[in-house]
Amino acid sequence: MTKIISVVGARPNLMKAAPVIEALRRRSGVTVMLIHTGQHYDREMSQLFFEQLGLPKPDLDLHVGSASHGEQTGQIMIRFEPVLKQENPDLVMVFGDVNSTVAASLCAAKMNIPVAHVEAGLRSFDRTMPEELNRIVTDHLCEFLFTTEPSARKNLLKEGIPEEKIHFVGNVMVDTLLKHRERAQTLNFAEKLGLPLCGYALLTLHRPSNVDDPETLTNILDAMWEIGKRLPIVFPCHPRTRAQLPALAERLPWLKGENLAAEKRIIITEPLGYLEFLSLMNSARFVLTDSGGIQEETTVLNIPCLTLRENTERPITVEQGTNILVGNRRDRLWAAADKVLSDEAHEGRIPELWDGQAAERIAGILTGRSSG
Ligand code: UD1
Repeated sequence: MTKIISVVGARPNLMKAAPVIEALRRRSGVTVMLIHTGQHYDREMSQLFFEQLGLPKPDLDLHVGSASHGEQTGQIMIRFEPVLKQENPDLVMVFGDVNSTVAASLCAAKMNIPVAHVEAGLRSFDRTMPEELNRIVTDHLCEFLFTTEPSARKNLLKEGIPEEKIHFVGNVMVDTLLKHRERAQTLNFAEKLGLPLCGYALLTLHRPSNVDDPETLTNILDAMWEIGKRLPIVFPCHPRTRAQLPALAERLPWLKGENLAAEKRIIITEPLGYLEFLSLMNSARFVLTDSGGIQEETTVLNIPCLTLRENTERPITVEQGTNILVGNRRDRLWAAADKVLSDEAHEGRIPELWDGQAAERIAGILTGRSSG
């Protein structure tokens, strides 16, 4: 019997873990234990996703909550180490690039427990991003590196990672998207918000580089208010971003209640469930985001994506998909939105192995068998 401990902590881990756990649990001779670090804890950031994605209830929640990077990472390690001692798994599996990913990997590697990283090798080459540091450290601790796109393999080889550890398996987030797309479509969430299909844009913002500095966030939202003249923008607001809004009200008077509701230029909502968000993304005219995963999801859905960053660790979404890097300057945002609205967006194609079978490939490699 092979015992695998799967660790999740933050929202974007959940749609990656779901298909992999399902694929592993379908195989005989494997037990999978699910541990939640508690990095994300609000219902809309965690539990709702468990329910919608059919994820099993975690066997254990470490309840670390929010803290500075050092404290959060340290607390996860402190709380995870005794679990590893007690459970003595054959493998620890981590996802993506959040603090929970690097903390769990470091803990396991120090105890000589092999680690598998799902979504390995992505690099933005921007070390001011906390995720970039998490990605680099995690990859160098792992025995199994599962990659989503060819650039990842190149990055890993350049960093001296042995070729035999690298497995190009495709994109597990796409497995989840394809599984739930139809259900999301029938939800028709845009209609519930009173929005016409393809007649609105969808915005998400949570990168520290965009939201932590009030000046930068003011400029971005100001640009959105202008774009909102041409079509309504739905803005499910991440808690990190929501916390900044009160400080901006003086420079952005429209942020105060009535204007916002009456004009319907920007519709601010709580963070949405997976299905509601997928439903909105699927029928949006275009998406504006600084998320990593949404760049990939829009590529699969063939919806134009304007990414409010200067770089991406997911270059295939620009080369083959619908993604365009537009930074966060007001003039560039306006120009980019204008271009999309004039139907000048480029058509994308779906990258290799983004076919809904990535989790099966991972399970096959880990169990040394191609099926059940
Ligand atoms: C984290 C990840 C980021 C990922 C994002 C997705 C790291 C370094 N960052 O960023 O890569 O794209 O999750 O959402 O791991 N908060 C709540 N409720 C919650 C969770 C957070 O209110 O359930 C608030 C807290 O004030 C917290 C802040 O959001 O301090 C930031 O949370 P944190 O997990 O530190 O980082 P994210 O910005 O969510």
